[in-house]
Amino acid sequence: MATTLSTRTIDGRTARFMELGEASSARVLVLIHAFPMGTAMWEPQRAAFPGWRVIAPALPGFDGSDSHALTPHSLFRTAPAYAIDAYADHVVALLDELGIGRPVIGGLSMGGYVMFGLLRRAPERASALILADTRPTGDSGERLAARRRTLDIIATKGAAGVADDMVPKLVSARTRAERPAVVTELRRLIEAQPPATIAEATRVMMTRPESTDVLPDVRVPTLIVVGEEDTITTVADAEMMHEAIRGSTIARIPGVGHMSNMEAPEAFNAAVRDFLGRVGGRGGVG
Ligand code: MLT
Repeated sequence: MATTLSTRTIDGRTARFMELGEASSARVLVLIHAFPMGTAMWEPQRAAFPGWRVIAPALPGFDGSDSHALTPHSLFRTAPAYAIDAYADHVVALLDELGIGRPVIGGLSMGGYVMFGLLRRAPERASALILADTRPTGDSGERLAARRRTLDIIATKGAAGVADDMVPKLVSARTRAERPAVVTELRRLIEAQPPATIAEATRVMMTRPESTDVLPDVRVPTLIVVGEEDTITTVADAEMMHEAIRGSTIARIPGVGHMSNMEAPEAFNAAVRDFLGRVGGRGGVG
């Protein structure tokens, strides 16, 4: 489905975001997308949270937003120290632009990595957290080698090559058999993104730091969601975050892989709705 995105200019760069839910509501949920899908992955959440305004920011370079031009060289000279934290700063800048103070903020996978950046850079900006199919550990060993393979695939085969490589790993066997439209949609979402953006995001992820240390400092209500068949960010990763974040809630979704919000929107939305009902949430400034 083609989605109309909203646009703002922030520091001279185009920032894009998708508005879902009830735009006039003061209760705001922010949802940060995975790699390398863009905001349309949140379509199954469009009408899921009555009484909530939902904003899905496009990270730099995605969905026609401007890249922050994090070249392999500049990646190591960014201020903040980690490029993933520059993505977090981008989300905060958008909240400032929209006059949104302390929303509930959630991210799936790479979106979760951005959340850890947010917890380093501006923890006061989230009134509650949703960490879906993500993990706080950085990349090393085989994971770094896989990133380098991804960069090769982008250079030789573009976004279609990335889709060929990734899509089979993103969903469970059940989703492949019972919801083939999800597989088709994932491929479409990946192929819609510019190869240069996919490469930049790959480098941003491969230089992200270990973030386990931020978890014990979390002082706001936190929901952790994981597909039980997720092989990229596993149930063990989710359980580890659940143990480290005091008072957190965990929702395990059976039969589902990495893209839990798309593979099982009913269960994902029910878990988030239940959480939002408990935390309330004040979106406005102040
Ligand atoms: C994602 O879904 O954002 C990616 O699979 C995360 C990753 O590659 O580490």
